[in-house]
Amino acid sequence: EPVEQDESVSTSPAGHGRRSKVAVVGAGAVGSTLAYACTLRGSAREVALFDQDDAKVRAQALDIAHGIAFTPMGTVRGSSEVEVCAGADIVVVTAGAKQKPGQSRLDLAGATIDIMRDLLPRLVAVAPHATYIMVANPVDVVTYAGLRISGIPAHRFFGSGTVLDTSRLRYLVARECGVAVQNVHAYIVGEHGDSEIPLWHSAMIGAVPLLEWASRSGSDHVLDAAAREAIARDVVSSAYQIIAGKGATNFAVGVAVARIIEAVLRDEHRVLSVSTELHDYLGIGDVCLSVPCVVGWRGVGRQLVPEVSADELEGLRASAEQVRAVARRFGL
Ligand code: LAC
Repeated sequence: EPVEQDESVSTSPAGHGRRSKVAVVGAGAVGSTLAYACTLRGSAREVALFDQDDAKVRAQALDIAHGIAFTPMGTVRGSSEVEVCAGADIVVVTAGAKQKPGQSRLDLAGATIDIMRDLLPRLVAVAPHATYIMVANPVDVVTYAGLRISGIPAHRFFGSGTVLDTSRLRYLVARECGVAVQNVHAYIVGEHGDSEIPLWHSAMIGAVPLLEWASRSGSDHVLDAAAREAIARDVVSSAYQIIAGKGATNFAVGVAVARIIEAVLRDEHRVLSVSTELHDYLGIGDVCLSVPCVVGWRGVGRQLVPEVSADELEGLRASAEQVRAVARRFGL
């Protein structure tokens, strides 16, 4: 779906020489790891970390800044004043209710929406032309709510969605098949949560359809239906396993969101499964879910429609119902 012209957004991709600024809201495990990942990767020239806990946000920023001599980065700042986000090209919101062991992401909806009602108007006031990326969970409901709270155009307001889950899927498939993860093209779509589903039907490994891997690669029984179901279960349970072990996930989500930031700032037109509002997408609408989208300087552009099996379409519709039911509970 071509994005409408948004004159307020400068046309030159920030990553090409112009000073680029990312504001990360929330200096907890995810936010501070994201700020660190952006620093290590040189995702943006300036990273601003904003959190209401002044001592913590300053300490996180200082601890990252002390390593800048070893990174391509420019500056890192931390403050409890929202002005530290002023003029950002990208604002990433990680501040939200924390998922406790055994809790589902959808359980966090009420608390996180309340945080958004306070935060988003203050952020838009200082960064009205930024692209907004929601990471706080439940990210699909938060993205749907945030669009309505912020008034930011839909192409400049989306969620990290299942970019992380897609990365988990690719890691597990690559390990099972003994190939580089970069050669696995498969997506997780739907809710970033328990109802997400893998698109096996359109998945490719190198030049081979994933569903024909065993026969076309001479590796019998690899990736058969049982193995695919085990991988799908592993992807869904990943966060629960990690939260049970160390209290939160942060490393993979941090680097996944840094990747989304780079796709925007460098105008990469990269296909990423971010969470955006769907309108008659395979008959699904009025909900934010992850589908493969083209991401570049103007934010989210086209939503791609892969060939899906009847089961995959049913799974995506069920996922939409799950997310929409929670959004309705909060009057959205
Ligand atoms: C996870 C969190 C970011 O899946 O929802 O690790």
